[in-house]
Amino acid sequence: MTQTHGPKRGIFITFEGGEGAGKSTQIRHLAERLRQQGLALTLTREPGGSAFAECARELLLDPAKAPVSATAQALLFYAARADHLDQTIRPALATGKWVLCDRFSDSTRAYQGAAGGVEARALSAIDAIVVGGDQPDLTVLLDLDPASGLARADKRRAAASVASTTADTYEGQRLEFHEHLRKGFLALAGAEPKRFVVLDATELESVLADRIWQHVSSRFALPRPTGPVGL
Ligand SMILES: Nc1ncnc2c1ncn2[C@@H]1O[C@H](COP(=O)(O)OP(=O)(O)OP(=O)(O)O)[C@@H](O)[C@H]1O
Ligand SMILES: [Mg+2]
Repeated sequence: MTQTHGPKRGIFITFEGGEGAGKSTQIRHLAERLRQQGLALTLTREPGGSAFAECARELLLDPAKAPVSATAQALLFYAARADHLDQTIRPALATGKWVLCDRFSDSTRAYQGAAGGVEARALSAIDAIVVGGDQPDLTVLLDLDPASGLARADKRRAAASVASTTADTYEGQRLEFHEHLRKGFLALAGAEPKRFVVLDATELESVLADRIWQHVSSRFALPRPTGPVGL
C-alpha cells in the first residue's frame, strides 16, 4: 500500500558480532556521518533501549542473576525486545528517524540458538510475533576470531572503571562457545545475503568506518548534506 501522508519511515540498521568486535565503535562512526547529512537518529542497544529492557539487561548480563538455560535467556531477550520495539524503535522509525541498534535478533539466534542450542525454528516463531515486519533494513556483521575479540574486551575492561572489571555472562563463557557463536553469525549472514554486510573486523577502525559508509550511502537515499554551499 502506498503511504500518502506522514513522514517516510526511517531506516533500521543493526550491528552484530562477537565480544569486542567493534560494534559500539562503528555505530559511533556511522552516527557521526549520518548526522553530518542532517539526519535525525536514534542510537540504541540490546539488551536494553527501554526502561524494562534495561532492567532485563541487568539480569541477563550479571552471571549471578542471569537465567541458566538458553531457553529462559531467549524468552527474556525477546520480552525485552518486544518492549524496546514498542517504546523506542517503532516510534522512531514512524517519525522518519534512522535507528542504529547495537545487537538485535541475530544475537539471540547466535548466542541462544547456534551456541546455546535453542532450536532455530522456535526462535523464528517468537521473532515473527515480536519483530514481525520490523526487521532491520541492513545488518552489519563484524567478523572477528573470538580470541582477538575477547582480548580486546579484556583490554577495554582493564582500562574502564572498577565497577565494570568483571566479565559479563557471555564474556565469561568458554572459547568453544564463542567459536560456535562466530559460525552462527556467519551462517545467518549466508542465509540472508541481502540484509547482511560482513566485514573483517581486524581491519583498521577508520577503514571499517569507510566500508560501512560506502554500503550505507550506496544502499539508501540520503538527503543532501547540510552545511555551506560548495563544501
Ligand atoms: N578495528 C579495530 N581494531 C582494533 N581495535 C578496535 C577496533 N575497533 C574497536 N577496537 C577496540 O576494541 C575494543 C572493543 O571495541 P567495541 O567496544 O566497539 O566492541 P563491541 O563489539 O561493542 O564489544 P562488546 O560486544 O563487548 O560490546 C575497544 O577497546 C575498541 O577501542
Ligand atoms: Mg559494545
